[in-house]
Amino acid sequence: MIDRNPKTFHVKSFGCQMNAYDGGRMADLLEAQGLTAAAAGDADLVVLNTCHIREKAAEKVYSDIGRLKREDGSRPMIAVAGCVAQAEGEEIPRRAPSVDIVVGPQAYHRLPQMVAAAARGGRALDTEMPATAKFGSLPPRRRQGPSAFLTVQEGCDKFCTYCVVPYTRGAEISRGWAAVVDEAKALVDRGAREITLLGQNVNAWQSEEGRGLDHLIRALDRIPGLQRIRYTTSHPNDMTEGLIRAHAEVGTLMPYLHLPVQSGSGRVLKAMNRSHSARSYLAIIERVRAARADIAISGDFIVGFPGETDAEFEDTLKIVRAVNYAQAYSFKYSPRPGTPAASMGDQVPAELMDERLQRLQALLGEQQLAFNRATVGRRTSVLLERQGKKPGQLIGKSPWLQSVHLETDAAIGDVVDVEILSAGPNSLAGAELVKQAA
Ligand code: 5AD
Ligand code: SF4
Repeated sequence: MIDRNPKTFHVKSFGCQMNAYDGGRMADLLEAQGLTAAAAGDADLVVLNTCHIREKAAEKVYSDIGRLKREDGSRPMIAVAGCVAQAEGEEIPRRAPSVDIVVGPQAYHRLPQMVAAAARGGRALDTEMPATAKFGSLPPRRRQGPSAFLTVQEGCDKFCTYCVVPYTRGAEISRGWAAVVDEAKALVDRGAREITLLGQNVNAWQSEEGRGLDHLIRALDRIPGLQRIRYTTSHPNDMTEGLIRAHAEVGTLMPYLHLPVQSGSGRVLKAMNRSHSARSYLAIIERVRAARADIAISGDFIVGFPGETDAEFEDTLKIVRAVNYAQAYSFKYSPRPGTPAASMGDQVPAELMDERLQRLQALLGEQQLAFNRATVGRRTSVLLERQGKKPGQLIGKSPWLQSVHLETDAAIGDVVDVEILSAGPNSLAGAELVKQAA
């Protein structure tokens, strides 16, 4: 146990964008308490903000805890936050006695009190799930880059049979209209030019009066200075007509949709409890493309779900060919304790999963490269986000979420007009178009 008040902290976030948001909010909280940010090796308090979605990610926390021990045998105060904290709770200090604080994703607004308790030599554990309580207790947003995350919805009621999210993040809840709009304005005041609305099922967001995400997007579109709006992750069942229409009508809504399908096989989708079919998914994509022809479609895939046959895997390749993805994430199925799929018979052997994942990723990689190449010669806008490796080079994002490298005198946070010159699998190179004097 530790017997001192930490003065410096380091938050390390793993996993999804919501964890990145939560990590930023924990940093806001600690700074509001007078602590200052430091590198992991120098910090008095290290927060590991963990991910439980797949086994590898969840096991990583224990090796990370071990690595925090310093050469002189001392260690910082250690807090385990995030979804592993929620799922494993008291098991964590049992396996790793050097952990001082265990705090779940719905309880981290109480982190300062927990740090104080740990500083007095105790151990603090809080994995309560009081819905949106935490948002009301967080300090205002502090530092902000040009592209910001904003959590508007949390949790999931869909209970896909492979997934831990309904257990670690709880039931679906939406933050209120005013809280979200106020936070968006605060982010823009602090320099954000792009906001990505986050939720495990972000398109299930609803205001107190039952208005959907499209209404919120239209309200944010009116905030002066906010130039780009994105949202992720969406569920096919919540892809409403209004949201699809927003893609045709709202200029700041970027042409990008992350819409996981997971598998192309009807039988597997049923066993996953996905409540959509391959055909209904394709119908949504068609409607979205009718609204916004150039939209980049992105997805998530799981290969080797229990019982997946060769033919069922081929159905996944088929739907990938039918959609033509701009970008995608694909994973080997990982049994998660407590989920229905973990106890299904017919688990797919590891070698077969490897082989399927390689074939799927080869196809998705081809599609991504083709999508990137198709943008060569286009004139488009780029939001500059960070310094490149070469002097004078900045890296930004295209409307389709591609990284674009260019030389420019403009500043980080500017949106510049660019002609795309060349494309690789993961990024584009562009040249800034000089504005003609009027
Ligand atoms: N095994 C493998 N991948 C999973 N995902 C969620 N749970 C699992 C699991 N048990 C993937 C899904 C989801 C993404 C966030 O992670 O594709 O969309
Ligand atoms: Fe998990 Fe399915 Fe909910 Fe997504 S929709 S978080 S995959 S249970």
